This record gives sequence, structure tokens and C-alpha cells, in this order.
Amino acid sequence: MSETLLKVVVRKRESHTDGVIALELESLDGEMLPAFQAGAHIDLHLGEELIRQYSLCGDPADTSVYRLGILKDPNSRGGSVAAHLNLLEGTELTISMPRNHFPLMVGAKRSILIGGGIGITPMMSMAYSLMADNQPFELHYCGRSRETSGFLNDLASCSFTKHVDMHFDSEDQRLDLEAALKGADADTHLYVCGPNGFMDWVIGSAKELGVPDTNVHKEFFNVEVKTGGASFEVFAEKSGITVQVGENESIADALKAAGVKVQVSCEQGTCGTCLCDVIEGIPEHRDVYLTDEEKEDNDQITVCCSRSLSPRLVLDI
Ligand code: FES
Repeated sequence: MSETLLKVVVRKRESHTDGVIALELESLDGEMLPAFQAGAHIDLHLGEELIRQYSLCGDPADTSVYRLGILKDPNSRGGSVAAHLNLLEGTELTISMPRNHFPLMVGAKRSILIGGGIGITPMMSMAYSLMADNQPFELHYCGRSRETSGFLNDLASCSFTKHVDMHFDSEDQRLDLEAALKGADADTHLYVCGPNGFMDWVIGSAKELGVPDTNVHKEFFNVEVKTGGASFEVFAEKSGITVQVGENESIADALKAAGVKVQVSCEQGTCGTCLCDVIEGIPEHRDVYLTDEEKEDNDQITVCCSRSLSPRLVLDI
């Protein structure tokens, strides 16, 4: 089944810092956009085969626009640079329907939201939602400095501003995680999004402080994916096609080259777009999308980056 795509126009673009822009996208006819949940993201179609995910940071109760923030990444694989260059006010573009791999847990007694840098964006939609539902929460925003951090005005004037704590390295106000997580119990849920080192620090500290893994929810971006490995065979059962995946080739690329339709998006194991059922064989999981338990089941694989531990994989594609 083909995916439903939406045509939108950039209604507003703001430069928050040298590297961060905030965009508002609205439908071409000005009608309301499809509803989304806190933590959701959309794909932006930025060019031929250039599809990137960005979290929605606006209030889920307001679907007159989708709001998002884009950091120009110095190590960009093309997406953020293209967005900064081309997404000017009035530009029309194609996006996906909102998808949510980072939902809030219903009924949590306390939620702790921690955003590092541009990782603040999904936390903002969560904060709107928790505020509207009158749920207890704290939002910590960590950054290098005020000068390099986006959304400061939004956070200072929004409905949940009382719940926001800012932590800037330049002001010697690094987040004290032990204090932030004090009193976290089985009904407390922690949400974190930010650069890799920041994520490692928060997730590792939460573990050391006794927060159960199942209560730590994470949204990765810019993951460094290990590439390459031994060659192996893949049989795409639905398509009836066998391919040999080369040492420096992804399963997705090998299948596409043989004419098998494969949907990919992030190409770094974070979004789940390319997820495929495994019928036979043992995957070597290299993504951060599947949970540890799902990886142990070995019945799904992200074909953009994962490989095979067995000489042959049979996939339901
Ligand atoms: S394309 Fe995003 S996980 Fe594979």
C-alpha cells in the first residue's frame, strides 16, 4: 500500500540562531492538518531520495500548522543543509503523515523531559500535551549557550514555561542529573532526545541511578551507523528474488538494485521506515530503532543498516 503524502507550504520561517531555523508548515488550502500526538515526527521530502525526519514541536491541540526546528548539521548528509537552503517562506513541499515512535506513556505519575540542543523539539510537543492534561512534569533544556540554542523565546512565553529549567554550559549550569532524577520511581518516565554523547550520558546516568530501562524513552538523531561487513545472501520471499549483499552495500541497496521496492528514510537505523519481517536467518542488528527485546526476537530487521550473522536471510518483502 502506498504511503499517504501531504502537500504543504512554508508559512513562516524564523532564524533562531546561526544554525537553527523554526518552520511553520500549513496545508496548501489552509485547512487543518491531520492530528498528531506529542513526540511525533514527519518526513520532509527534500529532494530526489532525500527524505529526512523532523520532530513536531508545536502544540498537538493546534493543527492549523506543523511547527518544527531544524539544526544545520556540520556533518549533514544533505538533509539539514538542503532544508536551510531551500525551505523559504512560500516554498511548497511534500511531507509524510505524522508518525509517532516516541509516545508519552499514558498514566505516568511524573514525566521528566530532557532535551539536548535541537532535541528540545519533541519535548515541547510533549510539554504542551502534559500541560493540557494537567500531568506533573519537568522539562530540562540543555545547551552549550543561549546564543546557540533555539526556541528560547517560545519556552519563555509558552503555557508550560513554569516547568522549564534551562542549563547552559557557558553559564556553568550543567544539568545535575542526580537532582533531576531524584525521587524517580516505577511510575516516573524519562524522555530524552539530543546528540549522541548527550544521550549516552543521560541514559547511562539514569541506569546508574536505578531508573528502569523500560521507563527511559529515547529519540535518537544523527546516529553513527557501523557500515560494511561480510557478504551474505538475502531471499526476498514475496518478490521471489535472491540478492547477494556486498561487503560495503546495505540490504536495502542490494534489493533496490534488483528491482525490489524498499522504502527507506533516515538510512541510519532510527526511524523504522525500512523495517521488514525476518522469516529465516539471524540478523545482525545495527539500528537504534528496535528495543533490546525486539532485537533478541530476531524476527524483524531494519534493512537500511543492519546485516546478517547467518549466511542467508529470508525476508518478508
Ligand atoms: S530507513 Fe530509517 S530505520 Fe531504516
